[in-house]
Amino acid sequence: MRVAMIGTGYVGLVSGACLSEFGHTVVCIDKDDSKIAALEAGQIPIFEPGLDEVVKTNVAAKRLSFSRDLKPHVQNCDAVFIAVGTPSRRGDGHADLSYVFSAAEEVAAALDDSYTVVVTKSTVPVGTGRKVEDIIRKVRPGAQFDVASNPEFLREGSAIEDFRRPDRVVVGCDSERAREVMRELYRPLYLNETPLVFTSRETSELIKYASNAFLATKIAFINEMADLCEKVGADVQDVARGIGLDKRIGSKFLNAGPGYGGSCFPKDTLALLKTSEEAGARTRIVGAVVESNAERKLAMARKIEEAFGGDLKGKTVAVLGLTFKPNTDDMRDAPSLVIVPYLQERGAMVRAYDPEGMHEAAKHLSGLAFCADAYEALQGADGVVILTEWNEFRALDLGRVHKALKTPLMIDLRNIYRPAQMGAAGFRYVGVGRPPHAA
Ligand SMILES: NC(=O)c1ccc[n+]([C@@H]2O[C@H](COP(=O)([O-])OP(=O)(O)OC[C@H]3O[C@@H](n4cnc5c(N)ncnc54)[C@H](O)[C@@H]3O)[C@@H](O)[C@H]2O)c1
Repeated sequence: MRVAMIGTGYVGLVSGACLSEFGHTVVCIDKDDSKIAALEAGQIPIFEPGLDEVVKTNVAAKRLSFSRDLKPHVQNCDAVFIAVGTPSRRGDGHADLSYVFSAAEEVAAALDDSYTVVVTKSTVPVGTGRKVEDIIRKVRPGAQFDVASNPEFLREGSAIEDFRRPDRVVVGCDSERAREVMRELYRPLYLNETPLVFTSRETSELIKYASNAFLATKIAFINEMADLCEKVGADVQDVARGIGLDKRIGSKFLNAGPGYGGSCFPKDTLALLKTSEEAGARTRIVGAVVESNAERKLAMARKIEEAFGGDLKGKTVAVLGLTFKPNTDDMRDAPSLVIVPYLQERGAMVRAYDPEGMHEAAKHLSGLAFCADAYEALQGADGVVILTEWNEFRALDLGRVHKALKTPLMIDLRNIYRPAQMGAAGFRYVGVGRPPHAA
């Protein structure tokens, strides 16, 4: 099948590359000249493990190409995906749909006389599919098309694997003809027995928000349990394991830490709140999660301050990890964006290292020293904070860490070390929700 992917970001590039791997002919389109120029030169503009290989192989097989121009590529396509950003609208938390709507107008103007399924892959509030349909119909009243919703559930850092082997594919559409096209597009997954969940467009749009809100709830919940553990002498790692082994609960997304961030949970929980407010169906649980998570980031900054004796003036703090999670360079809504400025405002000098995120981080954070590796960041610091659980921070040479630091203080906001082990290695160790001597 012939596919156009509009928007070549984290989702569009991965989806486009993986659909070409399924055997379809895909053109990934983006307005950002620098992205297309990089891709045409064989460079991948984002860090995503395994993506370079999929792109390279499919470009070589002539199934995958890139373009700045939408018009010539939309014609003759079986499916045109819209995978542009839907950030929070400044000020009110609504999803900003301006990119989606302008992409829809451009698609409408470019459609030819053949039948096309226009697929919203961007995360969009309930009712957007209908608006996209209205836009296209207004610009091209005679066009033969359907609008389908096909939300994406991939996780940055394991996006390729998630796209190749998803738990399910959700498709919302009202026409059998569109369903046929979608079935054909995802046929390789269907053969692998991946559930294809066909719903109405509204349901499909809501499934995406409900999924993200539920996962965000698990994170906020375990973070609140961690606070309680600290007060009562319980161990949140054991609590998480103890509840997670219950299959009705599941063990994923139960790691206590500095709060969720990233390009999805923060904006999607806010957008869901707006949708439910407007629909007159309050979602109090999601409201509490948003509030709890915002407080969490600040509370973790204060926890660091306290570990430094309540006074950060003149202290040098080494920060390991800046991205919102490992295996990505994505800095959107990362906890570091709240925590690092907090430390700086209170007079600390920050020395930071992140394996892939420093280029992006430099666009959002200033006044800190970016270091070449973890040990350089630690050199002469009064303590170290682990903010992101990159694998390379999990097995630091503790002797070397101890020697590099001026004071052997570690604040581990991801619980990747064990309190007892760190105590034995001569550190003052502060974890999240764990008793001081937990093994
Ligand atoms: N990042 C994730 O992990 C993830 C996961 C699931 C769903 N989503 C959703 O997918 C959507 C895309 O997210 P992302 O992280 O890939 O965004 P992104 O910002 O990385 O990429 C969006 C791209 O669209 C391009 N663009 C905007 N308007 C365009 C137009 N008219 N024509 C061509 N290109 C245009 C931008 O230049 C940009 O490169 C969002 O709705 C997001 O919520 C993201």
